[in-house]
Formats: sequence, structure tokens, C-alpha cells
Amino acid sequence: MDSCTLDEGTSAGNTVFTCSTSSSSEVPFQKKVEKLELTTTSMAESGQSDVILVSEFKQLKLEKEAQKNWDLFYKRNSTNFFKDRHWTTREFEELKACREFENQRLVMLEAGCGVGNCLFPLLEEDPHLFVYACDFSPRAVQFVKQNSSYNPDTCKAFQCDLTTDSLTDSVPEDSVDVATLIFVLSAIHPDKMHLAIENIYKVLKPGGCVLFRDYGLNDHAMLRFKVGNKLGEHFYVRQDGTRSYFFTTEYLQLLFTKGGYREVCNEYVLRETVNKKEGLCVPRVFVQSKFYKPL
Ligand SMILES: C[S@@+](CC[C@H](N)C(=O)[O-])C[C@H]1O[C@@H](n2cnc3c(N)ncnc32)[C@H](O)[C@@H]1O
Repeated sequence: MDSCTLDEGTSAGNTVFTCSTSSSSEVPFQKKVEKLELTTTSMAESGQSDVILVSEFKQLKLEKEAQKNWDLFYKRNSTNFFKDRHWTTREFEELKACREFENQRLVMLEAGCGVGNCLFPLLEEDPHLFVYACDFSPRAVQFVKQNSSYNPDTCKAFQCDLTTDSLTDSVPEDSVDVATLIFVLSAIHPDKMHLAIENIYKVLKPGGCVLFRDYGLNDHAMLRFKVGNKLGEHFYVRQDGTRSYFFTTEYLQLLFTKGGYREVCNEYVLRETVNKKEGLCVPRVFVQSKFYKPL
């Protein structure tokens, strides 16, 4: 399996990118930066789709049908779309080191777990982990529960809309050591993102943190949207009705700090990926961050 597809959130019905294997190292070419340098090409390209926004009527319909559209996505793709995400296992290594005593059971929340591409690799690696996993797509949650590695002793999967259902209905308050938001916030309307962040805050332990990874501004996935797919600033709709926001680190910092969190790190991850079918090498931009709930 090619490692770069692990970091692609979704390309919903479009091209899937694979990685330019630049060296023999396990982690393909990537660079972490605090600020984005916008090339004239990327500014011009992003300018193209600035002209026309999707009508308000269609925007309201997309918001109303967000859950249905993700559920249909999983009906079409079942568990075959996303690859297992080893980025989280790498990052999680670091967090495991904060255990106060050996074999301490860390409690994790995977918010917007999809079909479990992040949670199952983590559970396989660490037997002393308990994972709450939720998604608003009933089909995705069903796939998680049907996975042969699903074990109610180590995992509790449940359906939850992070913007309307309180996580405390299924997860005790102040009980989670680490929450992950992996390519999930981008799928939520910008006006409602704060609700998801506040919801997670309630179940995090003081000192607990959120691991975040998602699309960054001017990522190739954003630049290839055509006129007619733009919903608002940095916000686009795919052909299948699922939506995607493209983050700046500043925007994310504001969201989390307003929600009461403190920043640990918040940066862009730049990669180059190759679309083997089209023979194209394209720049990918992701935002990777950690925020914690103060003690
Ligand atoms: C791009 S997928 C990422 C899935 C998973 N985190 C992964 O990395 O494979 C985005 C996920 O967010 C979920 N999602 C979108 N909006 C949500 C919401 N308001 N509440 C809960 N889940 C949501 C979708 O159903 C979908 O499974």
C-alpha cells in the first residue's frame, strides 16, 4: 500500500493520489512550515472559482442533507475508500509516552471515525487503549461494529452528529485523554465548527488534547474545484454533495482558542504526490495541529 494515500481525506469520486516515493525512508517527502507562501499560479487558480457561489437554496439543501450525503458515500464505497492512517499511529507514539504508569489505559475519542481507518491500527498497536468512536453516518458506524477487530471491551462505536448531539450522552465528562479530528472538521459547515469543538471539550480531561489533521488552504484538492463548486470562502462542494473546507492555521487557532483550548502546535504539512494515472505531480497542503484543554 502506498503511504501517501493515507493522508488524503477524500477525493469523492475523483482521482486518488499516490505518493512520489522520494527516498527509501518510510515517510515520503514532506515539509512542515508555519506560514504558507502562495505562488502566483495557485493564487490565480484559486481566483477562478471565486466568481460564482452556489445558490443559497442549494446551500441550505446541502446542509440539510449533509448526513444523508455521507451515508450515501459509505453506501457507494463501503470500507474501500480511505486507507489506514498511519500518521496517527506515529503521532500517538508521542502521546503514549505521557502515561503516568506502565499499562495505564489511555482513553481516546475518534470524532468522525468513518469506517475506522484510524482507530483499528491504533487498537492493534496498543492493547491498553479504550476508544470511543463516533460518526453521524449510521452506515459508517455499522461498518466499524462489523469489523472483525471490533471488540466492545476496547471500543465503543456510536452515532453522533458532533454539531447537535451531546457527546456526554455516550462519553463521561472529563474522561478522554486524546481526541482525534482527522479530515472531519473540513466536512462541517464553518458556522457550526465551533459546536463540534465545544462538544469535544466537555468530554476531554483537563490536560487532554485534540490531534487535528485536515486540508490546508490551496491544497491541490481545492485548486482543482471548478467554477460552480464554491460555497463560500475556502469552502467547496464535491460532485457527491459532500463538502470540504480548506484551513489556514490562523483560522484554526482562533476556533480552538475561542473554544477554551491552548495551542501546542499548529502548522502546515507540505507534500508532493503523484497521480500515476495522469502522470502529474501535485502539491498537497495539510494542516496538522495539537490543542489541549487547560488544567
Ligand atoms: C473525510 S471523512 C474522514 C473519516 C475518518 N476520520 C478517516 O480519517 O478516515 C469525514 C467523516 O466525517 C463525518 N462527519 C461529517 N460531519 C459530521 C458531523 N457533523 N458529526 C459527526 N461526523 C461527521 C463523515 O460522516 C465522515 O465519516
